[in-house]
Amino acid sequence: MDSLFDAADGGENREERLAELARQVAVCTRCDLALSRTNTVFGTGDPYSPLMLIGEGPGENEDATGLPFVGRAGKLLDDILAAVDLTRRDVYITNIVKCRAAVEEGGRMKNRQPRTSEIKACNIYLQGQTEAIKPKIILCLGGPAAKTVIDKDFRITKDRGKWYDLEGGIKAMATFHPAYVLRQRGEDLQNTKRLVWKDIQAVYAEYQQAIEERG
Ligand code: URA
Repeated sequence: MDSLFDAADGGENREERLAELARQVAVCTRCDLALSRTNTVFGTGDPYSPLMLIGEGPGENEDATGLPFVGRAGKLLDDILAAVDLTRRDVYITNIVKCRAAVEEGGRMKNRQPRTSEIKACNIYLQGQTEAIKPKIILCLGGPAAKTVIDKDFRITKDRGKWYDLEGGIKAMATFHPAYVLRQRGEDLQNTKRLVWKDIQAVYAEYQQAIEERG
């Protein structure tokens, strides 16, 4: 067997496919986010995981480091995963856009939501990652990821926590984005956290089943 190819993966090497995609992303100029980025943020984790997490896009910390979810929202994401005994090494984490979307405000760059055109321009890379990783389960973090991956009319407050069947036998769910959770206060914070914790339990049940089926 050629060492570049993994028989368990049907003769392809996911790391190689992802590394090639990451090289393309690093020099991408498909939209104007390329003009202001410091680093592209491709994705991290286990390319053989049955579970892929998809967030919105890099913020200031991610742009500085080239890694997804390294700020406060990232710390909360670690806690959410830890609630079901998972770590970042057990899952694959990426975003719908690979470059920071920012706007100047009062002489400082502030994170903003990526525009539809930016998300569309970047979708080829998310598609490539999904095809390489072949996840059994996708968890979208927040409305923009859910609208991109599950349904353009997705409403996070109404539709989170529900399962959707995607092409390729993928089961997808969305939950609140960790940064949204962090913006809540008092009772809203407790209620939002409770829902996210409920969602991750349901995702974990599917994850365990996928691991068992893989044998
Ligand atoms: N928020 C996201 O959606 N993605 C990141 O990588 C960081 C923060």
